[in-house]
Amino acid sequence: MKWKNARKRQIPVLIYLLFITLVTGAFWAVNASTDTKATSSYTEVKGSRGDVYAVKDINALERPYNYIIGTTTNPLIEIFGILAALGTVGFGLMHGLGRYVANRKLKKQLEEVGSEYIYTRFTRIWHWMNAITIIGLLITGFQMHYSGAEYIDGKIHHFLGYALIIEYLFFLAYSIATRDIKQFIPAAWEFTEGLIKQGKFYAIGIFKGEEHPYHMVREHRLNPLQKPAYFSIMFGLVPMILITGLTLMRPDLMSFLVNWIGGQENMKYVFYLHLISAFGVLAFLLGHLYLATTGDTVKQHYEVMVTGFHRVYKYNQNK
Ligand code: HEM
Ligand code: HEM
Repeated sequence: MKWKNARKRQIPVLIYLLFITLVTGAFWAVNASTDTKATSSYTEVKGSRGDVYAVKDINALERPYNYIIGTTTNPLIEIFGILAALGTVGFGLMHGLGRYVANRKLKKQLEEVGSEYIYTRFTRIWHWMNAITIIGLLITGFQMHYSGAEYIDGKIHHFLGYALIIEYLFFLAYSIATRDIKQFIPAAWEFTEGLIKQGKFYAIGIFKGEEHPYHMVREHRLNPLQKPAYFSIMFGLVPMILITGLTLMRPDLMSFLVNWIGGQENMKYVFYLHLISAFGVLAFLLGHLYLATTGDTVKQHYEVMVTGFHRVYKYNQNK
């Protein structure tokens, strides 16, 4: 079958592109840390309970620089962030359990009638590299946040941060140049009728084995709920985390922004935005992993993001 061969062809290309990005990112990170006196040097500082933290060499920056890795925080962000993440997991578990129980009683008859090529090689490779980079940033970011910064984690976080910026620029260039960006913009009817139908399907229809209201086709691959969700992630949350991350890492490069917020003494607000976005990305990712299982079959959407081919099913009567 077509999609099976396609899958085999992707692996070397994926490995190659991952390699190129890592090498480019490493090169850039090393250069960035040697050509500036500012942000890449760390000193050890004792915290209130005697823990030793690695913090930015704040002496190399204009004072006061009021953001210290792993020690700056805000309880409200913490509470809402953790609740958002737990809430998403809870929703996925409950909804998934409901589907499992409902589906055991149903005799959902699906007949595979063909396949359609949906995701170009570029999008698939971009997607998986982006996923790996973001998972790495989540791990190193939250590790710094909850256990105080280890020197090495700061470095890995910075390196992955540069990689994410490069990947995002590729995504932007591709989406605009190929007009693929249109896929993410909902039409007026999708905000009303579309969202209601899709919402009803997730709330009720999916438990009855009903057919999806909107199917994936090449010219229109995202449903009315995915469009605004992916749009706000790719053009809201991700740019926010990139800009705030770059400002924390290289305030010298982003001095226009630092001046705009009133100077280095307000740096902790940039960090707050970075942390809020980090919790946002975490909640998105958890929801995304679950919602991607809600295709005609559990693995259908995962498969299309790997092979590019979407299996098309015909729904026969449920009895
Ligand atoms: C999905 C993407 C990202 C996530 C989830 C994330 C998460 C985090 C978290 C949780 C912290 C908190 C550490 C603390 O408590 O002090 C942090 C700090 C930081 N992040 Fe990110 N981050 C992301 C992307 C980026 C990017 C793209 C950059 C740079 C371009 C970046 C640069 C930084 C810097 C400079 C810090 C301050 C600590 C340090 O200097 O190492 N981050 N990040
Ligand atoms: C291990 C982590 C991830 C897995 C397993 C995963 C899985 C998938 C799957 C199966 C799809 C295609 C079907 C669908 O839309 O449901 C998809 C699409 C998508 N994912 Fe992910 N994803 C991951 C991480 C991420 C991350 C971190 C982001 C961005 C912050 C992201 C952004 C997107 C976008 C924008 C699409 C739509 C692509 C398009 O139609 O152009 N994914 N993902």
